Formats: sequence, structure tokens, C-alpha cells
Amino acid sequence: MDAKHLSVAERLLDWYDRHHRSLPWRSPPGTPPPDPYRVWLSEVMLQQTQVASVRPYFEAWTARWPSFAALAAADDADVMAAWAGLGYYARARNLLACARAVAALGALPDSEAGLRALPGIGDYTAAAIAAIAFGRRAVVVDANVERVVSRLFAIAEPLPAARAAIRAATDTITPDDRAGDFAQAMMDLGSTVCTVRNPRCLLCSLRDDCVAFQTAAPEAFPVKAAKKAKPQRHGTLFWAERDGRVLLVRRPDKGLLGGMRALPTGPWSDSDPGTEGAPFSADWRAIGLVRHGFTHFDLACTVMVADAGDDVAQGEWWPVAKIADAGLPTLFARAIAVVEGMR
Ligand code: ADE
Repeated sequence: MDAKHLSVAERLLDWYDRHHRSLPWRSPPGTPPPDPYRVWLSEVMLQQTQVASVRPYFEAWTARWPSFAALAAADDADVMAAWAGLGYYARARNLLACARAVAALGALPDSEAGLRALPGIGDYTAAAIAAIAFGRRAVVVDANVERVVSRLFAIAEPLPAARAAIRAATDTITPDDRAGDFAQAMMDLGSTVCTVRNPRCLLCSLRDDCVAFQTAAPEAFPVKAAKKAKPQRHGTLFWAERDGRVLLVRRPDKGLLGGMRALPTGPWSDSDPGTEGAPFSADWRAIGLVRHGFTHFDLACTVMVADAGDDVAQGEWWPVAKIADAGLPTLFARAIAVVEGMR
């Protein structure tokens, strides 16, 4: 590592010592690492979700399940319901599988390779945990780091192909000591200074190292390959009610919203599927439309309602007055708002 690159880490850590964000899963800069359970949990929650959304979930979760052993002993349905609203539900299934694997092992592995062997832990998460919880030198690249590094080095190749170059460049500036603080400092710089739009270059302690700043076009990085438009799909959500209770089902483990408690749905189709897949035949009435963007498609769902007769038995009949406690994903929470608006 040459002197110029070492000084990037030093400058950044110096900035982090003064300006780090105080977050519930962190230890203050330069102090011993936090409990690995809290690091692991926060990193899984933060995989596709913003810090502000994660914070309340993290606090509630650690109060309820404070350790791997506590989580490993939890009921699957309780864990899925507690995750509701955070999205990307495969994370919750993997989280529980991982907690059970760690409980069987006795402790969370402290190497990237050992971590990567566990459910729900990919390259990024393994590197982040190794650095933050165990002080190991690891090259940690999330979307914030990608942006900071592509600007520092003015990497012109578009994403996603640029990932290898970005990783190699991050490797050259990652220090041997305080790798966890360094990773989190990069994340903080990315979210508070080196922002997507209007980066605050005049406040940035890495300005003199930043090739994009010197060429006056930091916002142009990272360069992105043109995005394909997401396909639009259509579906129907069925609200079946009887005696103040609504019919809920559990979705199959595999597939969209897998393992989550849900309103019954029909198929997701290229055109409106109407009442196809309804839980029973009835006089279904459409009362509104809800939309939700998923990773690979946008979904528009008609909300249909009907009264259920006594002979409809499958699923769970959940008290309508307590529907907020059912742990339903956001798509269904939106449908409930439509139903409530109609009352
Ligand atoms: N995003 C992912 N991991 C993070 C962390 N440890 N701190 C802040 N933002 C993050």
C-alpha cells in the first residue's frame, strides 16, 4: 500500500472519529467491537433496507430476541410476523436458519469463509461482519462504498461490470487496523457527504484524493448501464369476511413473500386475472387498486371483497379489529387501508 493510499484511510478515520453516526448496533470509534449477534442482525436488516427504516425494527427485535440462542428457540411464525414491513422476506427465513446453525455451532464464525457458509450471508455481509464484529481486515463494498470509490478513482466502466474494479480499488485503500471503523466510515461518508445527488464535496475530507472532484463531475459516478423497464404484472387480493374476522393464509415458503401470513391471492399475470384463484366462489366485488414495486416487476392488484359463508374453512380467521398485529407484508397492509377506507 503506498503512502497516498494509506492517507485516504487515515483521513477518513479521522473524519469518522469526529462525525460518525451513532447507531444502536455500533460501538463508538476505536472501542471494542459490539456483540456479533447485533452486528449480524443489523447487517442482514440493512441488506436492502435504509438505516432509518431498520432502526425501530432492530430495537424491537433485540429486546425480544437478544441473542442467537433466543432467536434460535423462537417460533417461525413469530419471526416472520416480526419481520413484516421490512420486505425481502427470504431474509427472515434465512435469519432464523442462520440463528439455528449458529446455536448448533456454539458461536458465530469469525472468518469471512466461515460466515459465508451460513444461510443468508453473502460476500458483502461476510466481509462486513468479519470487519465490524471481529476486527478482521476485509474489503467491504456496499452501494455507498461503491459510490464513494467510483468517485475517488473516477471509475468510468458502468455498473454492474465495474464491480471488480471497484472492489480492487477499495482493497488498495482498506487499512489493516480498524477495518470495521473504516467500512462504516465509508458508509457514513456515502450517506451524509458523498450522496447520490448534490454531494457536499466542500465538506469532504477526501476531496484532495478524489479524481472525480478534480474533474468536477462527481455526480456522474458511478456510471450505470441503462436499466430495462420493469414488467408490469397484475393480481387480485381477496378480502373474505365473516363475523368480524378476515380469512388469512400462509404463503408457500418458496416464491414471492414466501412464508408470510397474507390475504389470499390469485396468480400474478400479464393482464388482470379477475377472480381466478379466489379462495371460494362468491359475489366478489372490486373496491380498489394497490400497487407495489418488487425487485423484478411492478405489481398492481385489485382488491376484492365478499362475505364468506360458514362452509368456508381453510386458512386462519383473524379478528379484523386486530389486523395490525397479523404481521402482513406492505402489499397487504395497503389493501387493508383500501378496505378500511370503504367502511
Ligand atoms: N449499511 C450497512 N451496514 C451498515 C452499518 N454498519 N452502518 C451504517 N449503514 C450500514
